[in-house]
Amino acid sequence: MFTLRDELGRAAAEALRAAFPDVTFPDTVSVERSQKADLQSSAAMQFARAAKKPPRELADVIAKSIASHPAVERTEVAGAGFVNVALRDAWLASQVMAPLALRDVGHGRVAVIDFSSPNVAKPMHIGHLRSTILGEALARVLRAAGYTVVADNHLGDWGTQFGKLLVAWKRWLDAAAFEANPVGELLRLYVAYTKEEKAQREALGAVVKGDDDGDDAPEQAAPEILREARAELVKLQQGDAENVALWKRFIDVSMVEFERMYQRLDVHFDVTLGESFYNSRLPGTVETLLAKGIAEHSEGAVIVTFEKARDGEAMPPLLVRKADGGFLYGTTDIATVLYREERWQPARAIYVTDERQQLHFRQFFAASRRLGVTTPLEHVWFGLMRMPEGTISTRDGNVIGLESLLDEAERRALEVARAANGDLGEDEIREVARKVGVGAVKYNDLSRDRTTLVTFTWEKALALTGNTAPYLQYAYARLRSMLRKAAEQGFAAGEIVVREPAERALVMKLLGYADAVDEVARSLKPHLLCDYLYDLATTFSTFYNELPVLKSEDAVRASRLALAVRTAETLRAGLALLGIEVAERM
Ligand code: ARG
Repeated sequence: MFTLRDELGRAAAEALRAAFPDVTFPDTVSVERSQKADLQSSAAMQFARAAKKPPRELADVIAKSIASHPAVERTEVAGAGFVNVALRDAWLASQVMAPLALRDVGHGRVAVIDFSSPNVAKPMHIGHLRSTILGEALARVLRAAGYTVVADNHLGDWGTQFGKLLVAWKRWLDAAAFEANPVGELLRLYVAYTKEEKAQREALGAVVKGDDDGDDAPEQAAPEILREARAELVKLQQGDAENVALWKRFIDVSMVEFERMYQRLDVHFDVTLGESFYNSRLPGTVETLLAKGIAEHSEGAVIVTFEKARDGEAMPPLLVRKADGGFLYGTTDIATVLYREERWQPARAIYVTDERQQLHFRQFFAASRRLGVTTPLEHVWFGLMRMPEGTISTRDGNVIGLESLLDEAERRALEVARAANGDLGEDEIREVARKVGVGAVKYNDLSRDRTTLVTFTWEKALALTGNTAPYLQYAYARLRSMLRKAAEQGFAAGEIVVREPAERALVMKLLGYADAVDEVARSLKPHLLCDYLYDLATTFSTFYNELPVLKSEDAVRASRLALAVRTAETLRAGLALLGIEVAERM
């Protein structure tokens, strides 16, 4: 369909150029899918003013040029100057018979996607799960759209948390607990540290702010344990053998947990270059920022300041080196983008994090541009998912919590699968429950506009009706079961011929797949693909309710079976792009 839209758009532009030689038109004008017609162009309204003609006059030119295309049945001018296009049934049928093809918008160019990126030795939160699921879906979609994707896990494996953890380790380690559950013990130590620091702060009479890790507090006001943590951090940074060994160990044990989660979620990275990888580049990055006049000294620290936007407030300055010489999150991000540009010359650099980091990314993008970074930088942010009390049971939001979320999803899916089906064996039921459980959690994230805040509920995620993974997985399995039944009776799929409105509607929907994927590659909003797949499933169900398949006469049956095959393929391919598996039987 996108090829046709391109062809019609170019033909219309050419006709406009010929009819109005004094006006400059682009190479192509837009021809879109529409509710009103198979395709529609509103280009006449867009260019009427430039042509100093009434829109309908341009619309006539467009309509005539488009009407001569072999795919087009007829065109008509409607309303203020819309051109409605009706496509030939035979053309539609031939297109839907062709193998599933996607538009190659990437042309092999590189897209770096920075996602998941959890922090070592700090609690993992639900935002990391969302970033992981969204990032993986985007990686798959962009790959399918012709990009060479570099999926990069920008692990938070460096920073002040290690000083804290080192103190806690040296004071309170329970070696047996660490042996049994290393990340659980690290988390316990981190929490114990946080509690102790808070208590000491309160004893000092300081106001305790929420999440503040006290990095900016002047030294004399710092509680004793924080000073100790800073000293441990300095030792680590200076290469102290004991601290470096412990730091590596913390990373190793955390990686084991992360890997387990990635495996379970079927998530893959091409590189895992954590923050520590860029350590040696940080001093030079700050020097370059200073030398180019992008950064300046301020009260012993180095900052990048931003000009006031024409209509609004200036962004606050970005701190790139603290007065004590330490570097920050933003410094690392600048060093990282320089590295990525040098190594991959990407066409797109994409970052997936929760909405709270929007200012950070605007600041660091602006600083990077001033440094000469030309790669388009895109922050794909998402609203935080609310988890009602008790959804994540053990220790709020850590890796273990995420695992228990998936366990719970599979357990609930297993109940549903058992209730629904008697004739699957135990192994197969478990496999179905795994796919449905994990799929439900993923789809629940992916199917909402990522910029909205959503509340997670089991009822919605696992519902068998509505826009959910289980609904689509069931739709697929039902289709496959119908096709198996057809095969048993010796019926095969054949040539597609459009006869009935419900067939035509299904064909039109099927032909929208590539456009939907294209739209996700452009907007980086996977929910558009979810909406498409849900529409496809409901369009198929209307078709199937209205028209007999197995009981119709030979040629009609063969055509309808072919439509069912194509629907199943499209559902499977679309869900795979979202990282969701299907089952042949449910
Ligand atoms: N580790 C960070 C966090 O957990 C996310 C990193 C996102 N990527 C980046 N290049 N800043 O908040």
